[in-house]
Amino acid sequence: MRTHYCGLLNEQLDGQTVTLTGWVNRRRDHGGVIFVDLRDREGIVQVVFDPDRPEMFALAEQVRNEFVLRVTGRVRPRPAGTENPNLVSGKIEVLGLELAILNRSEPLPFQLDDDAVGEDTRLRYRYIDLRRPEMQQRLRLRAKVSHFLRQHLEQHGFLDMETPVLTRATPEGARDYLVPSRTHPGEFFALPQSPQLFKQLLMVAGFDRYYQITKCFRDEDLRADRQPEFTQVDIETSFMDEEAFMTLIEGMMRDLFREVLGVAFPDPLPRMSWHEAMRRYASDKPDLRIPLELVDVADLMASVEFKVFSGPAADPQGRVAALRVPKGGELSRSQIDDYTKYVAIFGAKGLAYIKVNDRAAGRDGLQSPILKFLPDEAINGILERTGAEDGDLIFFGADKAKIVNDALGNLRVKLGHDLGLVEAGWRPLWVVDFPMFEWDDRDNRWVALHHPFTSPKLEHLGLLETHPGACLSRAYDFVLNGVEVGGGSMRIYQEEVQSKVFKLLGIGEEEAQEKFGFLLDALKYGAPPHGGLAFGLDRLVMLMSGAGSIREVIAFPKTQSAACPLTDAPGAVDERQLRELGIRIRKPAAEG
Ligand code: AMO
Ligand code: AMP
Repeated sequence: MRTHYCGLLNEQLDGQTVTLTGWVNRRRDHGGVIFVDLRDREGIVQVVFDPDRPEMFALAEQVRNEFVLRVTGRVRPRPAGTENPNLVSGKIEVLGLELAILNRSEPLPFQLDDDAVGEDTRLRYRYIDLRRPEMQQRLRLRAKVSHFLRQHLEQHGFLDMETPVLTRATPEGARDYLVPSRTHPGEFFALPQSPQLFKQLLMVAGFDRYYQITKCFRDEDLRADRQPEFTQVDIETSFMDEEAFMTLIEGMMRDLFREVLGVAFPDPLPRMSWHEAMRRYASDKPDLRIPLELVDVADLMASVEFKVFSGPAADPQGRVAALRVPKGGELSRSQIDDYTKYVAIFGAKGLAYIKVNDRAAGRDGLQSPILKFLPDEAINGILERTGAEDGDLIFFGADKAKIVNDALGNLRVKLGHDLGLVEAGWRPLWVVDFPMFEWDDRDNRWVALHHPFTSPKLEHLGLLETHPGACLSRAYDFVLNGVEVGGGSMRIYQEEVQSKVFKLLGIGEEEAQEKFGFLLDALKYGAPPHGGLAFGLDRLVMLMSGAGSIREVIAFPKTQSAACPLTDAPGAVDERQLRELGIRIRKPAAEG
């Protein structure tokens, strides 16, 4: 139907006759001449219809925005002074010789260049929304990234293998999406939260290097970087230790960023232990572009009379930390109140602060609601340790370590953005040496920080029984600009170790057998040492494209409430279908 893409025409085609297809981006009537900006996936070209071909001109007069056209015409230079330097085709135009209207369009529910359209409308008419040039660019970048990764992995001997979507629950820590079985009434498949166990079984089977770009499903609270179905670049290898594996993977990421964005990552990538990340940034995915760091001050607070600080200072599970904000002294009372409300979201009971007006003046040079509770030594210690200067502000968090970390870690990032402190550029790193387990206060049990198939460090195997909390794992996360883009580990490949870990996690022998018997069995039949990782493709492309949410890099994403306004999914089903499945819908309990 066409000889060229609109957006690729340029002055080299001057004088040639071309046939184009595309959508009417804009039509302008200019005293007897009609201009149409014709758009296809490569961009826009200006087409001119002269009245000296009356039949064609009459047709051109009917044309409206978003009509689908086929135009044959002659490429010619634009008149001097009318060039458009923003378009590849900006030096030329096409003089229309033949025109066919292939299809008409009703007026669009929103204009493509309207930035204020609500997300619900955008998603309901996603096929229109996707015509926007920025959406086209993001999804093309996505295709480029996944193509690059596939090619790279293939070149390194990885085999593209599929794993089931109708399967059993795989614990990755989220709620499962369930699918009822008709042939086994009362029983359910779970959609995979990841291919974790299957890829491990493929290693037991001897495939050595596996990859898959595949959908994963997690019914969890949604955020800007979480979707109920998302895509993993899932990878597993045998007979590699974490050193070799991380080198391989960071090489792939280094090549990807160089090739696609022209960005050079450091070689090797920096690594930071989980403990250091928590201590300095109160986050296991530190955004190193933000030059703010926490310091611990519990030792300075142990014997102060201010219980809010001395309590957590004496609690082995507590943390008292300070966050210096350079020039933070300019923050107003109401801004500080807003930040206090912000940290309350994470459970913080307050947000103490000290404004440093004139450090040389000692106590008199400071302004703070907690000054009266603190002796000179504590104050001097804080100023020294934070390195505070005149004009700075120091925030404090004191509580259980988890609350302080959630509160100050998030506050640090928010301050970084609010105060314009985020440095330009790319700051990738590996976070390593994660603890195997963390204690869950609510359920009174250990939970796995990664997943239960992650291997403890071999030298920590003994700690499994004696000090589970001190046991470090062989896990690693790939963190980029404050986003966890990938995570993985070396796996447990010995059945005894796996059983021990299940037991520690409170998974009894019977339950382990019922849920993971197939894995425990497989580990008995010659499982090689193996390990891998999965990247979140959506998050990776979000970062690479500069989008603010993964919804902007997914063609048909779900809303914040996990629905699809386009297809109106999820939807009710026929009574007959339910009966076939042996399912009766329970009415939600009436609202009191
Ligand atoms: P993990 O649970 O860390 O590991 O997931 C791997 C990566 O997937 C991305 N991700 C998500 N992206 C969008 N929406 C979500 N709801 C979502 N959840 C996770 C993140 C994350 O780093 N089986 C292990 C991998 C392994 O050990 O090999 C796993 O799934 O970028
Ligand atoms: P209060 O004595 O409760 O009025 O608190 C005095 C100051 O300490 C206020 O600025 C509070 O915001 C702050 N504060 C209270 N609890 C905490 C906490 N757990 N961590 C940090 N600051 C707190």
